[in-house]
Amino acid sequence: MIETIAGLHRSHGCGELTAGDTGREVTLMGWVHRRRDHGGLIFIDLRDRSGLVQVVCDPEAGPAFKKAEGVRNEYVIAVAGRVRQRPEGTINPKLATGAIEVAARELRVLNGAKTPPFYIEDGIDVDEVLRLRYRYLDLRRPEMQRIMRLRYQTTRAMRSFLDKRGFWEIETPMLTRSTPEGARDFLVPSRLRPGEFFALPQSPQLFKQILMVAGIERYFQIVRCFRDEDLRADRQPEFTQLDIEMSFIQREDILKMVEELMASVFRETLGVDIDLPIPRLTYREAMARFGSDKPDLRFDLEIVDVSDVVKGSGFKVFSSAVAGGGVVRGLCAPGCANFSRRELDELTQAAAVFGAKGLAWMALTGEGARSPIAKFFTDEELQALVARMGGKEGDLLLFVADKETVAAAALGSLRLELGRRLGLYDEEQLAFTWVTEFPLLEYSPEEKRYVAVHHPFTMPMEEDWPLLASEPLKVRALAYDLVLNGVELGGGSIRIHRRDIQEKMFGLLGFSPEEAREKFGFLLEAFEYGTPPHGGIAFGLDRMVMLMARRDTIRDCIAFPKTQSGTCLMTAAPSTVAPEQLLELHLKSTARTAGSGGKE
Ligand code: AMO
Ligand code: AMP
Repeated sequence: MIETIAGLHRSHGCGELTAGDTGREVTLMGWVHRRRDHGGLIFIDLRDRSGLVQVVCDPEAGPAFKKAEGVRNEYVIAVAGRVRQRPEGTINPKLATGAIEVAARELRVLNGAKTPPFYIEDGIDVDEVLRLRYRYLDLRRPEMQRIMRLRYQTTRAMRSFLDKRGFWEIETPMLTRSTPEGARDFLVPSRLRPGEFFALPQSPQLFKQILMVAGIERYFQIVRCFRDEDLRADRQPEFTQLDIEMSFIQREDILKMVEELMASVFRETLGVDIDLPIPRLTYREAMARFGSDKPDLRFDLEIVDVSDVVKGSGFKVFSSAVAGGGVVRGLCAPGCANFSRRELDELTQAAAVFGAKGLAWMALTGEGARSPIAKFFTDEELQALVARMGGKEGDLLLFVADKETVAAAALGSLRLELGRRLGLYDEEQLAFTWVTEFPLLEYSPEEKRYVAVHHPFTMPMEEDWPLLASEPLKVRALAYDLVLNGVELGGGSIRIHRRDIQEKMFGLLGFSPEEAREKFGFLLEAFEYGTPPHGGIAFGLDRMVMLMARRDTIRDCIAFPKTQSGTCLMTAAPSTVAPEQLLELHLKSTARTAGSGGKE
C-alpha cells in the first residue's frame, strides 16, 4: 500500500547522521538500498543523496515491522525513529554512519519500484548501454552523484572567480548562423522562412567577439556547443564550454588570468594546489620532444633526434631518410631490453598506425647492442647513437626514420603506449602545460587551399607578419592551448582586430571579399565601428570534470550523454517525426528511416 508523506518532515539526510546524534528523534526519506531479515529483526539500508544509514525494525514496532517485511530494493520509504549506538561488534567501519543505526518507530512506503536491471552501487560491471538506457538509475549510484556534484562545484567556482575579476556572464543565441570552428553544423529548419536553416553554434566565437565591439570588455559564458563530428571518448556532439573573451589585453594577461582561474577552481573543488606558473612549450618543441600538440607531461621519456648522428651511416633506411629531408628520431625505453619478439611487433604495429614504415630497435645488453640493424653501424657510430639516446644497459632503443610529421606522431603514440605499459606515471598526478605558437595555417589537400588551424580571426605573431606573403605555412599564431595529462582542456587566441590583417588572412584562406562578406559579413561590419584589441579562450567543461573525477570518458561527466554513435538510449533520440511536422517545415526526407526510431 502506498502512503502519503503528510505530516512527516524530513529532518536529516541518511548519510549525515553521526554518533553525536545518538538519542535524537529523526525522520528520514530515501530509497531502500537493501533489506535483510535477521532472526526477527529487519535491517534496511536506507539511501539518499547524502549516503546510507541502517534502519532497524523490531517486531515490537508493530505496523512498521509489517510494512518493512513488504519493502523491496529501491522502494521509496520514510522512516521516523530514534538514533542509537550499534551494539558492540556490529559497528561497520566502512560506512560513514557505521557506528549508529535508526530504530524505526514509524515506516511509510511512499512508492514501490520495479526490480532495477543493475545494482545501485559503485564499481558495477555493467554494459554502458544498460547504464545509459536507465540513466536515472545509473545516476543514483554514489560515484555518479559525486561526479554531478563535482561538476556543479566546478561551474560554481568558475563563476565565483570570474565574478570577482569583473566578468559578466552573457548568453548568446542557440539558433544562429554557422560558426567557423570547422566541424559540421547541426541545422534547424525555419518554419517561417521555408528552405532556410539556423545552425546550432559550434561555439559562441563570433558573438563573443561582437560583445567586445559592444564594449562588454570581460565576458564569460558556460555554454552548450554543438558539433556534428565523429565521436570519441572525449568528444560529444553537444558539450559545454567555459567561454571567455577580454578586451584591451595581450596574450600574457589571458594566460595569467587562466592560470589563476585553474588554481582557484582546483583548490575549491578538489583541495589541490596547482604549481604556478604553468610550464609552457611551443608547438614546435611539443612536437619534437613529445610527438604531440597535447603532450602528457606526467612522465619524461622524451623523443630524441639522431638525424645528424646517423646521416652518414651505412644503414640506408636512416641515411636516405635524412638525405630526403626527413628525420630519424628515437625513444629510449628504460629497462625494456628484454622485450619479446611479440612485444616488439606490437610496438611496430602501433607505430604503423601513424604511417611509420618500420620501427628499428636496439636492445642494450651486457654483451653489447642486440639489434637487426647494429651490423650497419661502425662501433663509433653505435657509441655515438647510444650516447645521444642516453641509453644504459637494459634499455631498448626504438627508432623511426620518416618525414618529420610521421616520425613525431608515431613516436608520440609509442611514448604514450610505453608510459602506460611501464607505469611511468602516477594516476593521481596533474601535469598542466601550455602549448603556444601554433602554426597559423595548414594546407588542406582535400580543399586544395590553406585553412586556419584555430580560426580565421586568430592574430599572427607580429614577428612573422613579413612571412604572410612569402611563406605562410611558417607563420605562427598568437594561439594557445591548455593541456592537462595529455588532454586538450582549452584553446584560444588573440584575435585580429585590424582590417588590413584580416583582409590578408582572408586572402590566404582563399576567400574573396564577397565570400568573406557572405560568411562573416555581420562580424566584419561590426569591426568597422571601433574594435578594441581582444582575445579569449574556451575550455571543455566535460573534459575538465572527466580529468578531475579521474574518469576515462566524458560520458560519465554528463547527466544525459549521447552514445558513441550519437544517440540517446534513454529517450531514443534522434527519431523519426510525424509527416505533418515535416510538411510544416517544408522538408522531405530522402532517407529510408521509417521505424528505425533511433535505436542502437
Ligand atoms: P575549440 O574548438 O578548441 O575552441 O574548443 C575549446 C575546447 O572545447 C572542448 N571541445 C570539446 N569537448 C567535448 N566534445 C567536443 N566535441 C569538443 N570539441 C571541443 C575542448 C576544446 O579545447 N571558439 C574557440 C575558443 C576561442 O578561440 O576562444 C573554440 O571553440 O576541450
Ligand atoms: P630492412 O633492412 O628493410 O629489413 O629493415 C631493417 C629494420 O629497419 C627493420 O627492423 C625495420 O622495421 C626497420 N625499418 C624499416 N624502415 C624503417 C623506418 N622508416 N624507420 C625505422 N625503422 C625502419
